[in-house]
Amino acid sequence: MIPQPSTVALTAALAGFATASPLYSSHPPFPILKPFSVSQVANHNFRPHGPTQLAKTLAKYGAQLPDSLAQTISRFDAARLAARNSGSVNATPESLDIQYLTPVKIGNPPQTLNLDLDSGSSDLWVFSTETPPDMVKGQALYNPKKSNTSEKVDGSTWQITYGDESSSSGIVYHDTVRIGGVAVKGQAVEVARNVSKGFTRDSNNDGLLGLAFSSLNTVRPKRELTWFENAAKTLDAPVWTADLKYHKGRFIPRPKITWFITNM
Ligand SMILES: *[C@@H]1O[C@H](CO)[C@@H](O)[C@H](O)[C@H]1NC(C)=O
Ligand SMILES: *[C@@H]1O[C@H](CO)[C@@H](O)[C@H](O)[C@H]1NC(C)=O
Repeated sequence: MIPQPSTVALTAALAGFATASPLYSSHPPFPILKPFSVSQVANHNFRPHGPTQLAKTLAKYGAQLPDSLAQTISRFDAARLAARNSGSVNATPESLDIQYLTPVKIGNPPQTLNLDLDSGSSDLWVFSTETPPDMVKGQALYNPKKSNTSEKVDGSTWQITYGDESSSSGIVYHDTVRIGGVAVKGQAVEVARNVSKGFTRDSNNDGLLGLAFSSLNTVRPKRELTWFENAAKTLDAPVWTADLKYHKGRFIPRPKITWFITNM
């Protein structure tokens, strides 16, 4: 699902990209290259490691890597890999692959809700004990009172309308949110106090988890970061991939539909 603002923003971004004139072209007429400069900033995440730098220098000049140096480096790489954060989680397709639902654990002790992971929006919202009972039809409900890590964000509200005119709105909590082994503490969990009829009818879908940029997040007065933007700080690279298989959901045994939150 794509909220209107994202469609507009994306279209504008693509249009800007396509019409930008190249700085340099190898085809005539050759544009004149105007001088320009760009400031560099120190990479504070860079961790110097002497043996690795030495090995790079030896490799650059085609010199043989001594065994002891190779062993030191492989131990260092193994330790670095072991410390990385990553995870993957299975997604279950809804009828005819309209959407895939992913189990998401919210709070402590964890409450599992099946959320629609959505690359086109940036709000994580859920059906909840705060949702009026006449708007609920079998969905799992997040109860912030049963989580000892939930905290209400006073004064914050949210309201989203998607491209298909469906909508929802409500208030905001911060809580721990875990997907496929990756946990984010203090994640904004937007609790629904109103959902449109389509969401009520969709009994299997307990809410959405937006994966787009947080500039689209609808929480006001203070916008919130998406789960992935928070999680990315603990990953080697801010990358997620989805591996969704076409039309597999209707057959038994149910195939694995897998979301990877990865650190390629
Ligand atoms: C919060 O709940 C968890 C899971 O039930 C429990 O292990 C933990 O001790 C609780 N923490 C506090 C501060 O009550
Ligand atoms: C719920 O949202 C709809 C659509 O925005 C609105 O028309 C309706 O009045 C709202 N209901 C409540 C109880 O706030």
